[in-house]
Amino acid sequence: MDLSSKEVAVLSFLSGIRDYIEEDQVSPKGLDRKETSSAISWLEAKGLIDVIRSEEIAYELSQEGARYLSVGLPEEQLYLLLESQSAVSLPDLTAKMNATDVRIGLAQLAKFGIRPSEGIISFKSVPQFHEEMERRKSFLEAISRQDFKDLDSSLLEHFRKRGGLLVEKRKTRRKMKINEPGRAALQESGQGDRVEDLTPEIIASGAWRERGFRSFDLTAPSEKFSGGYYHPMTILISRVKEIFTSMGFSEMPGHYIETAGWNMDALFIPQDHPAREMQDTFYVTSKKKVEMEFPEIIGISRKVHERGFGKYPGWGYRFNEGESRRLLLRTHTTVSTIRYLYTHRDSPQAVFSVEKVFRHESTDWTHLAELHQIEGAYYGKDANLSTLKSLMRNFYTQMGFKNIKFIPSYYPYTEPSMDAVAIVNGKAVELGGSGIFRPEVTRPIGLREPVIAWGMGLERVAMLFFGLPDIRQLYRSDLEWLKNYPIKN
Ligand code: PHE
Repeated sequence: MDLSSKEVAVLSFLSGIRDYIEEDQVSPKGLDRKETSSAISWLEAKGLIDVIRSEEIAYELSQEGARYLSVGLPEEQLYLLLESQSAVSLPDLTAKMNATDVRIGLAQLAKFGIRPSEGIISFKSVPQFHEEMERRKSFLEAISRQDFKDLDSSLLEHFRKRGGLLVEKRKTRRKMKINEPGRAALQESGQGDRVEDLTPEIIASGAWRERGFRSFDLTAPSEKFSGGYYHPMTILISRVKEIFTSMGFSEMPGHYIETAGWNMDALFIPQDHPAREMQDTFYVTSKKKVEMEFPEIIGISRKVHERGFGKYPGWGYRFNEGESRRLLLRTHTTVSTIRYLYTHRDSPQAVFSVEKVFRHESTDWTHLAELHQIEGAYYGKDANLSTLKSLMRNFYTQMGFKNIKFIPSYYPYTEPSMDAVAIVNGKAVELGGSGIFRPEVTRPIGLREPVIAWGMGLERVAMLFFGLPDIRQLYRSDLEWLKNYPIKN
């Protein structure tokens, strides 16, 4: 049998002792308690020592118990107070001691025959009162020292009944003794001081040549490892990407940090739109000066917002260019769509993204401040409402939603706008928004054809997929769920 040096140390310690010995008495040189305890467990598993276990109840002071040990038990506090004032009314009492202590103190003093009458409590000298308090305190002191040797069983009973001062702990104790196989293994192991931990010194000195190595049993049973898993959201995201790709869409790039100029102004969202407020958008402050991508969009947006485009009147307010340069965490991925199309306006485009967006919301069972958004957009001659409906139907059917309805909606950058609704188990579930980009968005940046687009929060759909009652469950790192979530297709 091959033994580690720690096991040998414990075994040889035990070999000098005839009878069973308590674990805390086992103290081989050079090993701390933890190492000793682990070596004992190994020796037991290898059958080289006999171990007897026993359950033991130990006590500790609760926080309250520790407090009473330092400030005095409530009955003692109260007795001393009465002794000095001879009589106190109950309301006065609560001004002098804390309410819990008064309650406990009164209950305890009643056992000594001191009771309030008509709202007043008077002092009565109790023989041996102080001696009894000393006994109680030294009992609590012993507990706090973890010294259970001569615990007074009547006081233990007393404090257990009072409750709240003692905490009960169950401990398993081990006693052990080396057995015959253990002695044999110890002898055998004495034959050489084999190398267990390979150190630079052992290699440099060549000592390993003489000493040889301790062998390890690589087939010994160990803990089961189950390997890694994909997060359910990762699986869902790759599914969505597959669907888009199968429909001939290609993925467009994007950034977490954007400017209000692209995230909002370019989409004709008025600068006083409520969604821009601090409550809805995370603005970013930067000490470094950040270059805006395609800053010419500011001038273009200014014109459209102030004066409109062609026959479209615009918003008619004074546009603030400083606002456009403000940095923010993108609130939607439509920002990627509009900038992508700005640089790809010469040919038809079918693009998508599945990316994180950020909203300054308080999280609850249906809201997250950081979520994934799906975005699909098509730019081309045949970008019209029926193309949009058929693309969305196709997309959502592949996602597993069979029964889709469209209802009118509003987004500042689309006209008309529709929300897609899925009927799931008889209930209408909102999937997301869509629409045809307004001419105020497309024409000023040189897009000659219409653009249709749709967007959707992915986590809401994930709730349906995985049957979750609470959206936060997705990111709770609950291992049980992560291993066993149901995939519904
Ligand atoms: N961007 C919208 C949102 O944040 C969704 C949307 C995308 C609406 C495309 C219309 C067109 O919910």
